[in-house]
Amino acid sequence: MDFKSYIRVIEDFPKPGISFKDITTLLKDGDAYRASIQAIEDLVKDLEIDVIAGPEARGFVVGAPLAVQMGKGFVPIRKSGKLPGKTVEQGYDLEYGSDKLAVHDDAIQPGQKVLIADDLLATGGTICTTVKLIEQLGGVVVGAVFMIELEELNGRDKLPGLRVQSLMTY
Ligand code: PRP
Repeated sequence: MDFKSYIRVIEDFPKPGISFKDITTLLKDGDAYRASIQAIEDLVKDLEIDVIAGPEARGFVVGAPLAVQMGKGFVPIRKSGKLPGKTVEQGYDLEYGSDKLAVHDDAIQPGQKVLIADDLLATGGTICTTVKLIEQLGGVVVGAVFMIELEELNGRDKLPGLRVQSLMTY
């Protein structure tokens, strides 16, 4: 399937110079959404995985269906202040802005093999922070998989030694 044909590109959002890759046009098509999750599973099916983690919010729409498809659990990585239990947190910079990410301190057991899933790899800041959170809990990050990778931002350079895969590249 030509997944890129389902992505809507919106120029100058959320600010001038940013070429926003809108996945909602793929998500609203049931066949394309399901096929994209299956294609992402094909990319990672050789990996040994205990659990999948995904960052809020768009990481949930990739990571959660992938987890169900693969019969694994899903760990939400959330923005600070959203999780009710005891958390560990890390600050990070975004392509546009900065924020803090958090995870429940009992969400991942030491030694568990974790696959990270998100919609987009841009600067890599979000995933780098997600890796730090998982490792803080003793988890072992075995890979990161994305619906879209913006290659010119070199996000994968922030993730040396990590297996990074993406369904579409721009
Ligand atoms: C977006 C996107 C990725 C991240 C990629 O999330 O969903 O998680 O930015 O950028 P990076 O590689 O430069 O870190 P955003 O923080 O905008 O939150 P959202 O998913 O809630 O829209």
